[in-house]
Amino acid sequence: MIFNVLFGLSILVSATLRGEGATAAYVPTDVFLINCGATSDTKDLSGRTWTTEHGNLVPWNLNDMSFAATASFQDFGVPLVPFMEARIFRSEFTYTFKVSPGWKFLRLYFYPTIYGSDFNADNSFFSVTVDGLTLLKNFSADLTVMTLKPESKYIIKEFIVTAFRTLRLTLTPSTDSLAFVNGVEIVSIPDRFYTKGGFDDKITNVGSNIDFEVDDEIVLETVYRLNVGGQMVSVVNDTGIFRQWFSDDDFLLGVNSGMKPEVPGVELNYTEKTPAYVAPDDVYKTYRTMGNVNNPRLNLIFNLTWLFPVDAGFNYLVRLHFCETLREVNGPVQRVFTIFIRNQIAMLEMDVIGMSGGSRIPIYLDFSVYVGSESGPRPDLRLELHPYTEVTPKYYDAILVDISLSEA
Ligand SMILES: *[C@@H]1O[C@H](CO)[C@@H](O)[C@H](O)[C@H]1NC(C)=O
Ligand SMILES: *[C@@H]1O[C@H](CO)[C@@H](O)[C@H](O)[C@H]1NC(C)=O
Ligand SMILES: *[C@@H]1O[C@H](CO)[C@@H](O)[C@H](O)[C@H]1NC(C)=O
Ligand SMILES: *[C@@H]1O[C@H](CO)[C@@H](O)[C@H](O)[C@H]1NC(C)=O
Repeated sequence: MIFNVLFGLSILVSATLRGEGATAAYVPTDVFLINCGATSDTKDLSGRTWTTEHGNLVPWNLNDMSFAATASFQDFGVPLVPFMEARIFRSEFTYTFKVSPGWKFLRLYFYPTIYGSDFNADNSFFSVTVDGLTLLKNFSADLTVMTLKPESKYIIKEFIVTAFRTLRLTLTPSTDSLAFVNGVEIVSIPDRFYTKGGFDDKITNVGSNIDFEVDDEIVLETVYRLNVGGQMVSVVNDTGIFRQWFSDDDFLLGVNSGMKPEVPGVELNYTEKTPAYVAPDDVYKTYRTMGNVNNPRLNLIFNLTWLFPVDAGFNYLVRLHFCETLREVNGPVQRVFTIFIRNQIAMLEMDVIGMSGGSRIPIYLDFSVYVGSESGPRPDLRLELHPYTEVTPKYYDAILVDISLSEA
């Protein structure tokens, strides 16, 4: 199977007031929230109800193959639901979900700690497949948690998969190990939302001739999803598909670069090509520009730069969202900038209004880039923005609102 990695990077440039289109959420046909190992249904902190592994989810000989256990410790910041209960697997085990055909988010929740009196999940290695496609291979939740930015004691792995009528999720312990999982979430998403390309239905390949083939056999994993210049946006404040957006502070290069201007009371103008479910309102409210309003020539001597540590050897899909909302930037050829991904030109002349057709109209673009291992197993994927002056724009500036990353 081919491993591909999706790097969804969202650049959203704007500020908004809640308009009609802005609140039109997507209504998923399937929503499963399974609190593995739990004995009763419970609500999480955001008010969503997690159910037990009831009914036909699990085979009849469940207890021979696995056991339920309760965490013997709760680290600071680890929510009770679904992390305090786990199912622990002695041998290969398959959950079978009856779903509607189409694309889904599959989210797996792991809290590596000690369960019951003797299962130490820190030493657990296992693989996970969905309908035969590998999602995780010899995975250690503990080793993975140690690399997280921002720091966390638990991990939520988010995949984008297709399913026809059933979704078969299989966990296989590595030799001399047990497997475990705390929670499983399945949520339908708009058809081909992450595979059809941006608002223009295109995926632009950056600096390689390795094609990024996106078909029904592909599995994508979200690596980062950041609200540039803003705060965390929680799952209940997403547009119906329970995505979480984090602050970009840890990824921005240089503490002084990047202004976060405030534009109160702006209403976005969503379109058929960029419907309101593409990103939540809260995400559009914040962004970064290069700043230096009084001395814009300063913006010519640096790049607004983000660094994302990623695994080498994968293709990444970078999704950028744009929307000009500043009153003073109201026509084409005013703010024009170059987008570099991995030191290569992804788009020479990015003119948001020139492309969207107007102020307050959001758009998003998809780029694919291959990250090789010439700089080690976990290089930084660099995103840089720089004013493009050849067309003599009104402002020497660039602007960014959100970033998200996925891997499969
Ligand atoms: C799984 O990873 C561990 C730690 O890196 C390693 O010791 C073990 O050999 C690996 N097992 C397999 C089957 O690759
Ligand atoms: C969702 O957004 C509203 C409005 O910004 C905020 O008051 C609320 O705290 C958010 N909910 C969560 C769970 O973050
Ligand atoms: C939204 O944008 C369209 C062009 O795509 C324009 O015709 C329409 O007037 C705009 N609506 C508002 C409320 O600005
Ligand atoms: C901006 O980034 C590009 C690509 O990495 C690089 O070639 C260029 O020199 C950078 N410009 C500045 C001013 O740092």
